[in-house]
Amino acid sequence: MAVLANPHTGIIFRRILQYSRPYLWRIGGALAASLVVGATDVASAKLVQPLIDRVLQPQDRSLIPLVPVFIIGLFAVKGGAKFIQEYNIKTSGALVVQDIRNALYSHCLGLSLGYFNQNKAGNFMSRILNDVGVMQRSAADMLVDGARESIALVGLTMLVFYNDWKLAIAAIVVLPLSFFPGAYVGKRIKKNSRSGQQVLADLTAILQETFSGMKVIKSFGTEDLERRKFFDRNRNFYHFIRKVLKYDSLSAPIIEVIASFGIAAVFWFGIYRVINGYITLGELFSFGAAVLMMYAPLRRLIKINNTLQTVVSAAERVFEIFDQQPEIVDRPGALELDRARGQVSFQGVGFSYDDAPVLKNFSVEASPGEIVALVGPSGAGKTTAAALLSRFYDVQEGAISVDGHDLRDIALKSLRKNIAMVDQETFLFNDSVANNIRYGRPQASLEDVQKAAEAAYADQFIRELPHGYEEMIGDRGVRLSGGQRQRICIARALLMDAPILILDEATSSLDTESETVVQKALQNLMKNRTTFVIAHRLSTVLSAHKIVVLENGIVKEIGNHQELLNNRGLYCKLYEIQFMSQDGKEPSSR
Ligand SMILES: Nc1ncnc2c1ncn2[C@@H]1O[C@H](COP(=O)(O)OP(=O)(O)OP(=O)(O)O)[C@@H](O)[C@H]1O
Ligand SMILES: [Mg+2]
Repeated sequence: MAVLANPHTGIIFRRILQYSRPYLWRIGGALAASLVVGATDVASAKLVQPLIDRVLQPQDRSLIPLVPVFIIGLFAVKGGAKFIQEYNIKTSGALVVQDIRNALYSHCLGLSLGYFNQNKAGNFMSRILNDVGVMQRSAADMLVDGARESIALVGLTMLVFYNDWKLAIAAIVVLPLSFFPGAYVGKRIKKNSRSGQQVLADLTAILQETFSGMKVIKSFGTEDLERRKFFDRNRNFYHFIRKVLKYDSLSAPIIEVIASFGIAAVFWFGIYRVINGYITLGELFSFGAAVLMMYAPLRRLIKINNTLQTVVSAAERVFEIFDQQPEIVDRPGALELDRARGQVSFQGVGFSYDDAPVLKNFSVEASPGEIVALVGPSGAGKTTAAALLSRFYDVQEGAISVDGHDLRDIALKSLRKNIAMVDQETFLFNDSVANNIRYGRPQASLEDVQKAAEAAYADQFIRELPHGYEEMIGDRGVRLSGGQRQRICIARALLMDAPILILDEATSSLDTESETVVQKALQNLMKNRTTFVIAHRLSTVLSAHKIVVLENGIVKEIGNHQELLNNRGLYCKLYEIQFMSQDGKEPSSR
């Protein structure tokens, strides 16, 4: 029980207890019922004495009918109390699990994007699903087992002293010896438990990767490689389980064998006491029953020590996320931005994810309604610049402002309401087409949804779906083509109707026909909005008011298409490799 004294463990339990507060009545009911269960154990040991001294030895036939009545009555009371105990504690546990999961999920939603880049999705899933479950299930078991077994132990000890205190002292001296091996085993389990949950998280992560990357796995024919990876981790998991099982299975036998010495000595002494007439036979048997019955609670109390280790390490992993503070937060009194005009300015922005600078002295101005294209080689920092405008990260040097307000002075939610984003990943939710389109404005009417879809050139194909706008997308619904998904994302951004637009064009080439449609949809979307477009299409670049050419995080050139071609710099080179093939024309030589 040494861990109970550990202040760190105390802090963790106080935190778990906070979540239990709303269910104290229910937990109290379970505890009260567990006292009754413990008391019935003591009563059954006590009743052995009158059974022998009053019924069996005097062979009193009139009392025989009372025996089944007592037995059945005792078990009925114990059964009823056990039900109340189990049902209440388990439902309290489930309720607390529900609350902690909700809180943890909300907390995750509030964390900054950077945190999710550093951690595997499987890691979060395993903490929200497994660890929260383990933590609460074990804590609940511990609480009730602890109460029930403690009361049984105290009751039985009292009974033993009542029957024969000399014999009792002999037994009490021997019993505690069995604590030592138990405490040792408990320590080993704690060491294993944390690594075990890590092993399980690894397993979850690899499963998640497999099922989301199935297409890549199959196309590269790497099933065997993945199989081996999974088998490896799964074997690690077994090795971990084996260790836990070993110490788990070892603890009871060790305790029992050591205890048997004590039992032998105590009974030897007990027989001597009966033969010399100090106690009755009934008292000895009642004493024996009580001593034997003490070992089960003792063993369980020692197991509770192991359970405690499991709870602590699961809880540590859960609270680790709770303790993670969002890096990007509103400053006190942050400005609630209404609808922005769309004046955006990057002033000498410097930024790095780790050490290597990604953007250096990046400055660009965009007037309301202007289209600014960001072009440059892969890794130049285009997506990063866009992410900074959404304030997914804070700039480390310089500043970004919208309508003259520094982003860090604007309330985050109100800033993001002003920015619509079409990402190259075209992420859609498992929901109807209509709900996906109105994601940025949930109250939008179906007419508005349809209008947005029309402008995004998506209306026609949506109408051709079996359930039209109510068709489900994703795992449980239709599969859409890349171009169709893109147009739904465009409709979503259109309906959000934000004054600022960030467009990370998909690099994957669509066929010419859907390319044309997506292009038209994008033109509609960019109308009257300040747009930052990470351009991979010539037509987008041509329609931009301003093209920013980035290389290694440095602005190399700014100008419109014609000016930049005349410069014959990096843009001209990029144009020749990247865009020329798209329209089949020679680059202008002017
Ligand atoms: N979350 C991240 N953590 C650490 N480094 C990152 C992260 N995202 C991007 N980087 C690094 O920052 C640099 C710029 O990345 P960015 O995604 O902005 O490039 P990009 O210009 O959008 O390239 P592409 O055209 O390939 O999309 C790259 O060197 C990349 O490795
Ligand atoms: Mg990018």
